[in-house]
Parts: sequence; structure tokens; C-alpha cells
Amino acid sequence: MSTTAWVDVLSADDLPTDDVLGVVVAGRDIALYTVGDAVYATDNICTHGQARLCDGFLDGHEIECPLHQGKFDVRDGRPTCAPVTAALRSYPVKVDGQRVYLQID
Ligand code: FES
Repeated sequence: MSTTAWVDVLSADDLPTDDVLGVVVAGRDIALYTVGDAVYATDNICTHGQARLCDGFLDGHEIECPLHQGKFDVRDGRPTCAPVTAALRSYPVKVDGQRVYLQID
């Protein structure tokens, strides 16, 4: 059983619609994505360079990096398009009532 606590991040009302938002949680730069009713979270810094994915373009479940147009699947952080080859770290998300929580160790 995991002992990692859920961290209260923001109000669900502050989530964008089918878009990406950058937030800092427990000192980590995190990208939150909404795809329909689902919410996902990964590290916000691209694994290829110093670009913030929250400045990129979300198309369905893919986030395109604004710097070299590499892509990741926001559901699990895996790379889906060159030049990125390393996965982003992804984080469990839950929406409970009007609050959004992340699990970050
Ligand atoms: Fe993201 Fe190069 S910095 S693809």
C-alpha cells in the first residue's frame, strides 16, 4: 500500500478545457492536462531540453513541445514523436469534489 499523500493542487474550476496548465507543486514544475473529463499530470520540463510543455500544443492525448516539436502521451509520459526519446515522469491525479489532487513523493 502506498503511503504517499495526496497534495491539494487547485480548484477544478481553474482547470483549462482540453488544454494544458503549468503549476508548481511541492517545488516541482508540473503540467496538468485536461482531455474531456480526464485530468493527467506529468513533469512540465521536456526531457529533450529546457522547454516548458505548458507552452506547447495539446492535441488529444499528445502534448507537443514548443521547442523542437517532440511529442509525449500525457497519459503515461511516453515519447511518441522524435526528437524526444526519454519518457516524462507522470503522476497520479484525482478530482474529489471541486479539488484536484496529485500524488508526488
Ligand atoms: Fe522539447 Fe527539444 S526541448 S523537443
